[in-house]
Amino acid sequence: MDWGMKNRLARILQPASGRTVMLAADHGYFMGVVPKLEVPRATLAPLLSHADALMITRGVARTSVDPETSPPLVLRVSGGVSFMGKDLANEGITTTIKEALRLNAAAVAISIFVGSDYERESLLNLSQLVSEAEEYGMPVLAVTAVGRELEKRRNRYISLACRIAAELGAHLVKTYYCERFEKVVESCPVPIVIAGGPKMDTLRDALLLAKDAMQRGARGVDMGRNIWQSQAPVPMIQAIRAVVHHNASVAEAAGILDGAGARQPELAGKKT
Ligand code: R5P
Repeated sequence: MDWGMKNRLARILQPASGRTVMLAADHGYFMGVVPKLEVPRATLAPLLSHADALMITRGVARTSVDPETSPPLVLRVSGGVSFMGKDLANEGITTTIKEALRLNAAAVAISIFVGSDYERESLLNLSQLVSEAEEYGMPVLAVTAVGRELEKRRNRYISLACRIAAELGAHLVKTYYCERFEKVVESCPVPIVIAGGPKMDTLRDALLLAKDAMQRGARGVDMGRNIWQSQAPVPMIQAIRAVVHHNASVAEAAGILDGAGARQPELAGKKT
């Protein structure tokens, strides 16, 4: 592997643990205004020093994140569709490698839509992006997207999509956690990070997801809504860091939240 490629990957997967806490905040590229991400700068600023990498679009990078204090960028370069359109899978490439280099990105990210009407286009987009990115030592993160079909988040589909992403040359894969996740990891020859998905009922649920994924071989998280839509974003990302980098148990990580008073509203709402 070329020096530049290795160096960029090491900016994401921390050499000490080989793991990463990536903060995902690229949702606006197809969802527009997302609750708690209405003003990206306000949401992201307190979290940046706790993230190993930041997944955003070029627009949010330029308008809402200071270059002097930004974690390494994983730049979203696919898009062109929205929730208002006919098919979320019909994405193209929105941002060139030249621009990713100008933004000093540590990686570029693209979604693939295996099993959709646009499977072929999205897989060829990935292949072409890898070919171009490798010329410049730029890693490619493939996101196994499911669009509106959340029920696709099952082992058989996730295994297939992750393996195809790796076969086409992705250097990292981001996917959803699923049952028998260790089998997904075993059959995917590149590191996998997990998305958090829609906000869960409790902070503990999100910690449990991260813990299970790490125990089954994930190399980290690329989490958004379960951090910045939570009632305590900073303690939450600190708790996630404890799980990812320090093998903290769910109870130990929840202790970080409790220490910050972060779970009080949630616990007050529980009958147990
Ligand atoms: C969605 O397509 C975006 O790429 C997000 O980065 C991804 O879903 C991870 O964020 P969350 O943890 O909110 O699911």
